[in-house]
Amino acid sequence: MNIKEKIRIIEDFPKEGISFKDITTLTDDKDVFKYTIKEIAEDLRDKNIDIIVGPEARGFIIGAPVAYELGAGFVPVRKPGKLPYDTLKIEYQLEYGTDALEIHKDAIKKGQRVAVIDDLLATGGTIQSVAKLVEQLGGEIVSFNFIIELTELKGKEKLSPYRVHSLVKYD
Ligand code: PRP
Repeated sequence: MNIKEKIRIIEDFPKEGISFKDITTLTDDKDVFKYTIKEIAEDLRDKNIDIIVGPEARGFIIGAPVAYELGAGFVPVRKPGKLPYDTLKIEYQLEYGTDALEIHKDAIKKGQRVAVIDDLLATGGTIQSVAKLVEQLGGEIVSFNFIIELTELKGKEKLSPYRVHSLVKYD
């Protein structure tokens, strides 16, 4: 099955010069969606994953069904002010300004084996921040899994020496 064929590319979105990779044309196809989730789950199947962590918003769409497929728990990482209980927060640099992410303080127990899943790896800034939150809670990061990796932005190098696995790559 050709995953790349199902990813719609929108030029100059959300701003000029960005070639946006739209996964909604993949997830609305029942066969390709199922195949994609299974491919990620198969990569993680033998790794004794306790928890899948997915960052808002597209990390939810991909992470939750992978967790279900593996029989693992799912933990959301959200933008500030969305999670109702005590949270741990991390701020990170964007090209202009900062952004922040939060996780519930009791969402991960010390020593639990975690895979972080998102739709796309670009600069790696988001996932690096998610990793810090997971590790501050005592979770052990086993793998980062993505549908798409934008190789030119060198996110994989930023995440080294963690394990990074993606299904398709774009320059
Ligand atoms: C996108 C994407 C990743 C992140 C990748 O999310 O879904 O989470 O950017 O970029 P990075 O590797 O440079 O950090 P976005 O911030 O657009 O949020 P959304 O899923 O809520 O739209």
